[in-house]
Amino acid sequence: MTVTVRRYQPSDLGQVLDLWDRAGAMPIGADGLTVDQALDLMSSAESVSVVAESDGRVVGTAIGATVGVVGWLCRLVTVPDDDPSAGTVQRLVDDVEAKFSERQVRKIVTVVSGSGPVHIDLGRRGYAESDGGVFLERELAVAQVAPSTLAELGGRMIGPGLWDELKGMDQVKEIIERRVILPIAQPEVAARHAVAAPRAVVLFGPPGTGKTTFAKGIASRLEWPSIEIQPGQLAGEGPERQATYLAKTFDRILELPSAVVFVDEVEDLASIRGAERKVTPSVANEFLKQIPRFRDVTHHLLVCATNWIGRLDPAFLRPGRFDYVLPVGPPDAEARRAIWQRYVDEITDEPVDVGALVRASERFTPADIEFAARKAAQRAFERELFEGERTRSTTAEFLWAVKRTRPTLTQEIIDDLQEDIRRFARD
Ligand SMILES: Nc1ncnc2c1ncn2[C@@H]1O[C@H](COP(=O)(O)OP(=O)(O)O)[C@@H](O)[C@H]1O
Ligand SMILES: [Mg+2]
Repeated sequence: MTVTVRRYQPSDLGQVLDLWDRAGAMPIGADGLTVDQALDLMSSAESVSVVAESDGRVVGTAIGATVGVVGWLCRLVTVPDDDPSAGTVQRLVDDVEAKFSERQVRKIVTVVSGSGPVHIDLGRRGYAESDGGVFLERELAVAQVAPSTLAELGGRMIGPGLWDELKGMDQVKEIIERRVILPIAQPEVAARHAVAAPRAVVLFGPPGTGKTTFAKGIASRLEWPSIEIQPGQLAGEGPERQATYLAKTFDRILELPSAVVFVDEVEDLASIRGAERKVTPSVANEFLKQIPRFRDVTHHLLVCATNWIGRLDPAFLRPGRFDYVLPVGPPDAEARRAIWQRYVDEITDEPVDVGALVRASERFTPADIEFAARKAAQRAFERELFEGERTRSTTAEFLWAVKRTRPTLTQEIIDDLQEDIRRFARD
């Protein structure tokens, strides 16, 4: 039985899929690739993909992809009944290695499963397990496919850690998790209970409580790109063009496979008093017209945030537009403790009485805590430079900084928030 190796052709597709299926590479291979991903790679112009053929039958595949001096060898698969004496693996690897050499590759990386014949063949050729390393992988959201549109819209992917960086605020987190994230992340369960994925939500609360961070955290949790629309920026477009510009922006956003669209300071767009808006009435109307479009598409979520919910046009907030209107209130003692702890851990290794900081910062928002923590760090830094004292921040520096930080929250703001929650909140 002779085996020949040649370039992969689209007409091989059926046989290749059949082979991968029989070789246990479906739905996911040892290389961690799904069928779609492997096929994408196989047909991409830059990769080298070869098949081994015997008696007109595809009996093996190998995909090679180069990045600089590194060559990735994937989908090295042969039929389960492959006769070792036929040397199928050898031939596939010979061919891909030759193509790698032409491209100046100096190191080849590959993943194989278990200790089957492929493993043994590769071992004979000098491939060795990497020392102490493990194979890690992470799926990226589909939207990565359209990076240029995304970049033009000022959108970006937010790292997976942001949600966890939001410390404390467990109540807000839990409500957002349950009402907003899970119906999107668990579509089958949601459908079984006729729970619809939310399309648009409003976050409100005093400045610095974390609304912006929560909006980005949602994008990070969903692994959707985040696109921010700043009403203030529209103002730069000139009065006649603002509405058209906004409509065009939404057209492009809705063409993306997925997105969290974040409109911060939405009162600039939808304030009840025209004088408080930063845009012309036609823009405010255009924005209202765009919201229902979110209701018709999946994988798009509109998040609006405001410090002044009472200033919004009541018509703007009506239930048909927004699924939820959620308060992001001041941090309670437990939340302040968690937020302090985060910054204390970052800034110092000296023992710090976090309880004292929590008590001293009653009217602080998370942003105030962050500000005070940075101030304490700055003080210790200056001490080392100018007084030669090398200790990092201690409780004393933190308390010193707290005293010099004006809390955002006042009794009036807290009372107003309670009233706003009573009048506007919908969770
Ligand atoms: N729960 C939290 N834990 C830690 N830091 C927080 C938290 N909430 C907010 N912050 C920090 O406080 C600052 C202000 O938050 P931000 O989201 O901009 O507030 P808002 O949009 O409500 O004005 C940011 O630097 C953010 O990192
Ligand atoms: Mg904000």
